[in-house]
Amino acid sequence: MPDLYAVFGNPIAHSKSPAIHAGFARSTGQDLVYEARLAPVDGFPGAVAEFVAAGGRGANVTVPFKEEAFRLAKRLTDRAARAGAVNTLVFDGADVLGDNTDGAGLVRDIVDNLGFPLADRRILLLGAGGAARGVIAPLLAGAPASLTIANRTADKARSLVAAFADLAAIDAGNFDDLAGKSFDLVINATSASLAGAALPLPAGLFAPGSLAYDMMYGKGDTPFIAQARAQGAGRLADGLGMLVEQAAEAFRVWRGVLPETAGVLAGLRGALAG
Ligand code: ATR
Repeated sequence: MPDLYAVFGNPIAHSKSPAIHAGFARSTGQDLVYEARLAPVDGFPGAVAEFVAAGGRGANVTVPFKEEAFRLAKRLTDRAARAGAVNTLVFDGADVLGDNTDGAGLVRDIVDNLGFPLADRRILLLGAGGAARGVIAPLLAGAPASLTIANRTADKARSLVAAFADLAAIDAGNFDDLAGKSFDLVINATSASLAGAALPLPAGLFAPGSLAYDMMYGKGDTPFIAQARAQGAGRLADGLGMLVEQAAEAFRVWRGVLPETAGVLAGLRGALAG
């Protein structure tokens, strides 16, 4: 019987993860099954237990269960402990290892796919929720010149600064504090575009040649990408590459081989545009 994997979320019907992992399994010649599983909002641990009893070897975890998966894991990788959230579980007998591949996925998309090294760049991270927290340590590992976190609620950005103080000095504040500053890389980790809200970004934020990166993706420009384009960002990217790269890193954690991602990413991009 092929090894069994799944992604848990709610909702989950439109998840691209089964197609992504099927592509990786094909290209690496690995024999596995990867399913989408809907867990009840109040029933994540039970859904996982059922999956493990059925022989599940590993799982991805998406909204709204990443913090619950963090608590459910018996052991955590360092990057999951830093993120405070788990998007990848590995089941081995009674052991449950929690990992987080989101930050690695973001950095690989920016550095390798987009050819934008982080070293000596001024990075601005917009947002201070779970999505922002998960990528801070991997961004700092790229040795940027500086990292600034701006959030609607400044106190939440400041508490992230405290949580990562042992790694680097991070600037924090709200959007007003950004006036007069400019950055080489601006990453949107807010959920503002879900509500159709524009972010109050001051003029001059995007340095010449800067990259604007939205963790969200969609058909055409996301609201943040449209805003960055209008404000003169040099390069624009949405989060489809991050989605594929975090999946590739999870595949590597489970199977010991890092799949090639360009073909899968091109296929998803084509389907999104079509
Ligand atoms: P996630 O896990 O996706 O990060 P979250 O923890 O709910 O979700 O965090 C959402 C982030 O988007 C927060 O930084 C939030 O700002 P606040 O901390 O001030 O709530 C930000 N956000 C959501 N809607 C926003 C909006 N309309 N304008 C600006 N920021 C917004």
